[in-house]
Amino acid sequence: MSHTQVTQAKARLNRSELAVPGSSPKFFEKAAVGSADAVFLDLEDAVAPDLKPSARRDVIQAIGDCDWGDKTLSVRINGLDTPYMYRDAVDLLENCSERLDLIMIPKVGTACDVYVVDALVTQIEMATGRKKRVGFEIIIETALGMQNIAEIAAASPRNESLHLGAADYAASTRMRTVQIGGANPDYGVLTDPNADGARDFHWSDMWHYPITQLVVAARANGLRPCDGPFGDFSDAEAFTAHAKRAAVLGCEGKWAIHPSQVELANNIFTPPADEVAQARQILRTMKESEAAGAGAAAMDGKLIDYASIRQAEHLVAMADAIAAKG
Ligand code: GLV
Ligand code: MG
Repeated sequence: MSHTQVTQAKARLNRSELAVPGSSPKFFEKAAVGSADAVFLDLEDAVAPDLKPSARRDVIQAIGDCDWGDKTLSVRINGLDTPYMYRDAVDLLENCSERLDLIMIPKVGTACDVYVVDALVTQIEMATGRKKRVGFEIIIETALGMQNIAEIAAASPRNESLHLGAADYAASTRMRTVQIGGANPDYGVLTDPNADGARDFHWSDMWHYPITQLVVAARANGLRPCDGPFGDFSDAEAFTAHAKRAAVLGCEGKWAIHPSQVELANNIFTPPADEVAQARQILRTMKESEAAGAGAAAMDGKLIDYASIRQAEHLVAMADAIAAKG
C-alpha cells in the first residue's frame, strides 16, 4: 500500500438508486416504500423550468412527511450553470427535515464546482444548526468533468459517490448513442477472415472507458462508483447486461429510471452466493495457511495470497451489509 491512506466515505448500500421527478409527488410514497437502496428526488432535468419552484416545495415537504425507512435519501439539485442551483440549496437546507442524507450535484466540471456547493451548504448548516452533515453525490456527465475527475473526486470531505450520467455524457462528448446508456451497433471490431474467408463482427462496449475512469477516480478517493441510467426500461435483458458489466468493473450499483429496474439492480449488485461462499473459504484457508507459517496457499487447485484476502474481505463486507438490511 501507498504511504497515502485513502479515507473511505460513509458505507451505504447503493445497489439501486431510483430517480423520482420532483414535480411528480404522486410517485413519492411509492418510492418511499419500494425496495431501492437509495432514492433521489429530482429538481433538475426531469423537471420543466416553470415547475421548479413547486417541485422544490413538494420535495422539501416530502422529505419530512414520507416514511423513507432505511433508504438513503438524496435530492438532485440543478447545475451551477443555471439560475436555480443557489435557491435549491438554500431552500432545501434551510427548510427540509434532517432526514435528507445526500445532495446530488449534476454536471460537475471542476473541483471548484464542488467547492462552491460545499461552501454554501456549510454556511447554511452552521446558520441553521443542522446536526446531520449532508453528503454529496457527484454526477460525471460532461467532457470537462471527465477530464477533471480526479480533482473532483477529492474536492470535498462531503463527497460519497461518483455517478456516470450517460445521457449528458453522450451529449457533451457527442458520442453517437442510440438510446440512453445503451450500445451502438456501429461500435465494434471486424475479425480477420478465417480460412473460409468468413468474418465476424463483435460489438464492443462504448461505455468501457468512462466507467473504468469513474471507478478508478472513485476508489482512489474512497468513494462509491455508481453506473447511471439505462433508458429502455422495457428491455430488462439489456439492463441486466449493462448492469452486470458495470458490476464486474467495480461499480456498486446503478440508477433505476423506472421502478421495474430496482429489483434487477438489487440482484445484480448483490454478490452471488457462490462467490461469497468462496470468499469466506479464502479467508479461512488463508488464516490456516498463515498459522502454518505460509503467505500463500492453494485452494481448489488455484493460488491464493494476501491480495485474495483483500478481495474476499470486500465481498464478505458487502454481503454482510446486505444481509443486515434484510
Ligand atoms: C443523467 O443525469 C444523465 O445525463 O444520464
Ligand atoms: Mg444528466
